[in-house]
Amino acid sequence: MTKAEPTTVIACVKDRPPGSPSCGGRDSRAVIAALEAEAARRGLPLRVQEIRCLGRCTLGPNLRIKAGAFFVGMTAARVAEVCDAVAAHRAGAGAPADPAAVPPAARG
Ligand code: FES
Repeated sequence: MTKAEPTTVIACVKDRPPGSPSCGGRDSRAVIAALEAEAARRGLPLRVQEIRCLGRCTLGPNLRIKAGAFFVGMTAARVAEVCDAVAAHRAGAGAPADPAAVPPAARG
């Protein structure tokens, strides 16, 4: 990736029927909209790739930086954390991908 290329953030938008956990059911699209707005405000090159599951359904809305940090329980109010992590990732200081960082009991 060159500095001019946007960093990909993979965001789950899976919808399931009421009563079944899903990121879409917890308004992941509002999180994505807030993330894109915050990235634009900062001039941070970021693109969102929507996906249909990241395997942590009970913890959603979930997203992850491609080859980087994983975020669970996302809200629109927390998108600054993701932008900070994307900026660090682009600077080569981002957290490595670590799915094991999510406690096994909390995995969906
Ligand atoms: S529904 Fe989002 S991680 Fe499975």
